[in-house]
Amino acid sequence: MGDTKIVAITGGAGFIGSHLVELFLNKNYKVVVIDDLSGGNILNLPPSKNLYFFKKDIRDPSIEDIYKKYKPSMIIHLAAHFANELSIKEPRYDLEVNGGGTLSQLELAKKIGVERFVYASTSCVYNPSEYPLKEDFSLCPHTPYGISKLSGEYYCQFYKKHYGLPMTILRYFNCYGPKEDTNFYRGVVPKFIDQAFRGLPIVITGNGEEIRDFTYIEDAVEATYLASIKEEGKNEIFNIGTGYSTSIFDLGHNIIKLSKRSLDIQYNPRRLWDETSYRTANIKKLYDILGFQPQYSLEKGLTKTWNWYERLYGISSIK
Ligand SMILES: NC(=O)c1ccc[n+]([C@@H]2O[C@H](COP(=O)([O-])OP(=O)(O)OC[C@H]3O[C@@H](n4cnc5c(N)ncnc54)[C@H](O)[C@@H]3O)[C@@H](O)[C@H]2O)c1
Repeated sequence: MGDTKIVAITGGAGFIGSHLVELFLNKNYKVVVIDDLSGGNILNLPPSKNLYFFKKDIRDPSIEDIYKKYKPSMIIHLAAHFANELSIKEPRYDLEVNGGGTLSQLELAKKIGVERFVYASTSCVYNPSEYPLKEDFSLCPHTPYGISKLSGEYYCQFYKKHYGLPMTILRYFNCYGPKEDTNFYRGVVPKFIDQAFRGLPIVITGNGEEIRDFTYIEDAVEATYLASIKEEGKNEIFNIGTGYSTSIFDLGHNIIKLSKRSLDIQYNPRRLWDETSYRTANIKKLYDILGFQPQYSLEKGLTKTWNWYERLYGISSIK
């Protein structure tokens, strides 16, 4: 395949994946995407002669032939059964894809000898704390999704120690931005935007004081890129967040402001599985090791996100 670097991205047709594919293409990489389109959309991917898309389950053994043909120097493993709510409905499938699927990808990485295996983990692996979470804080996932994603981390650690497979683990904190699906199982940002778009009340499950760290997608993929390609990122775990705390009430309020409508906020009981009142990233390591600082305030990121959905759904044309 010449001198061009080649990267394989699983889950590349999904929300984070499709932005990351675009970034790597812009950096002149060739990109192999493995995605079964169970949660992603082929339309998320840009047309490019340097993009090779394969509609496959990450556990499919025939991926070995694809990797042997294209010889990616790196596998960035983002494909997953997403996320907490869905994992409670389908816990076994969740483990099979997130645990078993990660294991399949690690086996392939070992076989073809990649320079790096990058694993998309989640802030859900942490034991909730009122303090900004550092990478070495205690881990205690509370949902099947958190458990399966943490098992993926442990498999990465095992392959590093036992087989010397270089890896990087990224724990994402509530990413949001264009291209995220608005379905029931997705994040709170597209949910609120969808409600605002329909002129419905913004529905908060809880008392609105719950805290999260909302990370704009461009920051998330830039940090992912740096962590993946920089030597200093090798065999490290990084939080991918902003370090800023936002209450769900403030998030709802910001989205109502963007909608320019007078929408109510409605409170529903907190979901039983949701034991996390406070979750913000400590991103000192991201800065100290990779020199990365987020560029998007919540206001700036939400405005870009809102404008994207507005174009997609023609929100402004609905009165
Ligand atoms: N979005 C967030 O805020 C967030 C937060 C923490 C962690 N993460 C992690 O980041 C990664 C990407 O998340 P996302 O938000 O882009 O999710 P997403 O659902 O948009 O993307 C996941 C992609 O994986 C694909 N996929 C699912 N099962 C598959 C399978 N068995 N075989 C092949 N492809 C399969 C889906 O079709 C989808 O395109 C996931 O690993 C997720 O756990 C995301």
